[in-house]
Amino acid sequence: MHNAVFERLGMEATYGALEVRPEQFRATVESLRRSDYVGLSVTMPHKDAAFDVADETSVHARRVGAVNTLAFVDGRIIGHSTDGLGCIHALRHHGIDVDGSRCVVLGAGGAARSVIVALEEAHAGEIVVVNRTYDKALAAREGIDRCRVGVEGDIAGADVVVNCTSVGMGSAESPIARDALHGVRCVLDAVYFPLRTALLDDAVAEGAIGIDGLWMLVYQAVEQQRIWFHHDVEPAIMRDAALAELARRGNDPTL
Ligand code: ATR
Repeated sequence: MHNAVFERLGMEATYGALEVRPEQFRATVESLRRSDYVGLSVTMPHKDAAFDVADETSVHARRVGAVNTLAFVDGRIIGHSTDGLGCIHALRHHGIDVDGSRCVVLGAGGAARSVIVALEEAHAGEIVVVNRTYDKALAAREGIDRCRVGVEGDIAGADVVVNCTSVGMGSAESPIARDALHGVRCVLDAVYFPLRTALLDDAVAEGAIGIDGLWMLVYQAVEQQRIWFHHDVEPAIMRDAALAELARRGNDPTL
């Protein structure tokens, strides 16, 4: 996605994978702070270490308690979290403004926490966390006043449901029964492999707007481009590039 942007804008930049062992993470990032690198996306298992290595973190990243993006600015390492904003912008792209709305977040891991914080910052009226493990749901809502722990029965009639569990990733499973989606306006599934998940099939069959996880992935990458290069990127460039890659891997890119 990022390389597609560089190519379209004629930028002399490259985005590539850097495989790093956990014990080498800090030294690797330190060595890049004064290099030609503009920044890094950070994925598992380095997210906690990324938070620790940053000289500064954004207010949002501190509230989330995680960092998935590092920027090198004048030799300093700045940590950001882009997943939650990616979710908000993916919803906006589909005409959904969460201001005052009732939102349900399925799951209570790192992705759920960033979505919960971003929903609160976007002035959601109420946020309900529904998770298999109650204690983790309690921890995910910590410090968020308008967020409470709920049950599957809280989903019906919600304005927005965001699936942040890993259920459906590479399978035809759904994290919830279709009946639970009755009267829901919109479902965003953070899972993007497959693109059309069982949850989204059920959501659309129930009359809801279904938004696949690639939209969230694309919009968090748009946010990364803003952090690294201070420019706004057309999301279609990234989505088209990602769809082409998914099709190359045999994924059905239709929804
Ligand atoms: P991430 O960092 O992507 O959020 P994670 O921290 O591993 O990943 O969180 C995965 C989420 O999916 C958790 O909320 C997990 O529920 P638990 O807290 O009960 O572990 C949820 N999850 C994973 N497999 C699940 C399953 N089979 N049924 C229901 N929830 C599941």
